[in-house]
Amino acid sequence: MSDLKKRVLSGMRPTGKLHLGNYMGALYNWVRLQREYECYFFIADWHALTTDYADTSQVRENTREVILDFLGAGLDPEQCTMFVQSAVKEHAELFLLFTMITPLGWLERVPTYKEQQENITGRDLSTYGFLGYPLLQAADILIYQADFVPVGQDQVAHVELTREIARRFNQFYPKQSRELRAPSTDAEAVLPEPQVLLTPSPKLPGTDGRKMSKSYGNTILLTDPEPVIRQKLKPMVTDPARIRRTDPGNPEVCPVFDLHKVFSSVETQERAREGCTTASIGCIECKSWVADAIVAELVPIQERRAKYEKEPKLVTDILEGGRRRASARAEQTMHEVRAAVGLND
Ligand code: TRP
Ligand code: SF4
Repeated sequence: MSDLKKRVLSGMRPTGKLHLGNYMGALYNWVRLQREYECYFFIADWHALTTDYADTSQVRENTREVILDFLGAGLDPEQCTMFVQSAVKEHAELFLLFTMITPLGWLERVPTYKEQQENITGRDLSTYGFLGYPLLQAADILIYQADFVPVGQDQVAHVELTREIARRFNQFYPKQSRELRAPSTDAEAVLPEPQVLLTPSPKLPGTDGRKMSKSYGNTILLTDPEPVIRQKLKPMVTDPARIRRTDPGNPEVCPVFDLHKVFSSVETQERAREGCTTASIGCIECKSWVADAIVAELVPIQERRAKYEKEPKLVTDILEGGRRRASARAEQTMHEVRAAVGLND
């Protein structure tokens, strides 16, 4: 991995087996980025605790499922660094330093804060950790001095806050020149401001027509075998105006067609559009075509995943190698951070 490459960092919560929405929204893009950038991809297990602290029994198992899905999707340990957040303790140290300089108002104003507090029921989210969650994310990003953070629209506010934290940190703690331990004259900052790399996330409906999401129970998992995929698609909602087989439909209002747009070839999309608008095909047939396309996308992923599943030791080694590389990089930043703050090692 060359030093000249720009650095990319992103993380994902260990929610368990990943679904097509997680794949298209993140992994699919990450796999492409790993070839061009020095990439760090991690499983944000501490982040999971900000909402699931009362029951942590699934965290390790879910972490395992997510790393298998990373590898299945084509993240390659030779090309990128994959690790588990809690294995790199420096994230917690930088987070702690950030808590000292962050005005509470900044955190209270993060749009996801109030939103999630209202939407997530059955859990008490009036905790310090939940409020501070975006700061932990800022530490995740800044500790690698990342240039780019590939995320979906829902995470943009967090990266924006990360930039503000970096700016504030750099103002309080300018870079110390190594010899004199005096403020350096060059403008270079300890924590460069990262940029969002807005990843294209196509509209991906679940089987009930709403956004595909674990909490709606409408997902297709990367691990679903072919019969399960077909089974799940069968009752999927279509253009509600297409009641009888002889009624022509409108693909533009049909969630099944949204899946065609993501997974089917242009030719198949055209065949489906033509067949739908002229009522020459039924929805069952149309769904079977989209199932074909999804199965074709998932077969290589499932084959790769199955190989890793059979080699738990190899997966452990990959994570250990990732931890080591990530730690070394994080330590490098922390040396500069400690020196700038005045807590030299
Ligand atoms: N907050 C992100 C999510 O819920 C996960 C995450 C944690 C992350 N740390 C990150 C993403 C750092 C990008 C960079 O999806
Ligand atoms: Fe949707 Fe296809 Fe049925 Fe048309 S034929 S309504 S695009 S499922």
